[in-house]
Amino acid sequence: MKTDRTEIIGVIGAGTMGTGIAQIAASHNHSVILYDISETQINQSKDSLSKILMRQVEKKRMSEQEINSILERIKFTTNLADCTDCKLIIEAIVEDLTAKKELFQKLETYISDTCVLSSNTSSLSIASISSVFDSPERFLGMHFFNPAPLMKLVEIIPGISTSNEVTQFTRQLIDSWDKTTVIAKDTPGFIVNRVARPFYGEALRIYEEGIAEPATIDWAMKEIGGFRMGPFELMDLIGNDVNYKVTESVFKEFYYDPRFKPSFTQKRLVEAGRLGKKSGIGFYDYREGAETPKPITDKELGDKVFNRILAMLINEAADAVFMNIATAKEVDQAMVYGVNYPKGLLAWADEIGLSYVLDTMSALQVEYREDRYRPNPLLKRMVRNGVLFHG
Ligand SMILES: NC(=O)c1ccc[n+]([C@@H]2O[C@H](COP(=O)([O-])OP(=O)(O)OC[C@H]3O[C@@H](n4cnc5c(N)ncnc54)[C@H](O)[C@@H]3O)[C@@H](O)[C@H]2O)c1
Repeated sequence: MKTDRTEIIGVIGAGTMGTGIAQIAASHNHSVILYDISETQINQSKDSLSKILMRQVEKKRMSEQEINSILERIKFTTNLADCTDCKLIIEAIVEDLTAKKELFQKLETYISDTCVLSSNTSSLSIASISSVFDSPERFLGMHFFNPAPLMKLVEIIPGISTSNEVTQFTRQLIDSWDKTTVIAKDTPGFIVNRVARPFYGEALRIYEEGIAEPATIDWAMKEIGGFRMGPFELMDLIGNDVNYKVTESVFKEFYYDPRFKPSFTQKRLVEAGRLGKKSGIGFYDYREGAETPKPITDKELGDKVFNRILAMLINEAADAVFMNIATAKEVDQAMVYGVNYPKGLLAWADEIGLSYVLDTMSALQVEYREDRYRPNPLLKRMVRNGVLFHG
């Protein structure tokens, strides 16, 4: 299979992700069919995309002619039969297994035998969706990050039945869209949504133990760690409902491994409707006149918070390599290009010393006697053998 700009790309679901993915494909000269079940949503998608592209003209990053040709390349439709000639279809509808299965079942009756099918699901297994296909070897996961046109990472997730040819075709095509692709095993959270869990979970635990307030934890992660946003600011931005649901789903999917245990604090916020920025209040109060809490800028406290969260993140990244979810290089790329981490976690581990990370984890395990803090076997092995992740 050859990747070619003349191939027609189908995008199903014209919401946040679908609209962004259609923009990427059309910007790379593909004809795009953007389908949604809702006429209203199709019109909204067209309006929002025009506005986003017009801003590029205002900023003098694109000419009016360029944006017109991007828009002309996209056919907005509510007729699924328009997808007949697509070479690749990317599904981005609601995160619901039954809805996705029903859609693919219908879709398979319209498309050619050579059309590659993919899902942008964040939390469903590729295997569970693939059970519906006559030809599951042509189906795989293709996980973009929000906002899709800006975030460089795309996780490619071959399912248990996906053919190598389909995986390679998809990877080459997405690479040609100036994205960084990583191949991840079909396991809960793939790479990013699994490895990032302690950024939120350990920050919440530190807060619940009364070690530091959200403002101080956020300060430590930004000022000492160099992260763009602190965990509490980020949870408020993502929405505590969305973030809690991902944690809960990863926890359940991992057969209740305590490493991924959700937090009561966040659950209570969700129950109370304090969802974050979108509801005006979450961990922070965004309503007019509300005061922004000040952090305690104590270096010793900040180091304690930062080192604990970083060690937990590195331990999780090491586990992704240990369990063959992806290579060390791909795990690092995923966190830098998918969630803007200042450095790859495993490169960071090499830099500060694997034995330092192991000591931090071991001290936590001794202190708490909780399985949550068990040091990863790969980390132990590497310290014993004196090797590095990127040695
Ligand atoms: N929003 C994110 O940050 C993000 C990031 C990565 C992946 N995802 C995943 O991408 C997918 C879409 O998420 P989103 O945030 O764009 O959702 P969204 O709610 O913005 O859009 C979903 C769209 O799907 C349409 N739809 C629903 N059922 C349909 C059907 N049967 N056929 C056709 N269209 C249908 C809806 O009308 C809506 O326009 C989900 O699987 C989600 O988990 C989301």
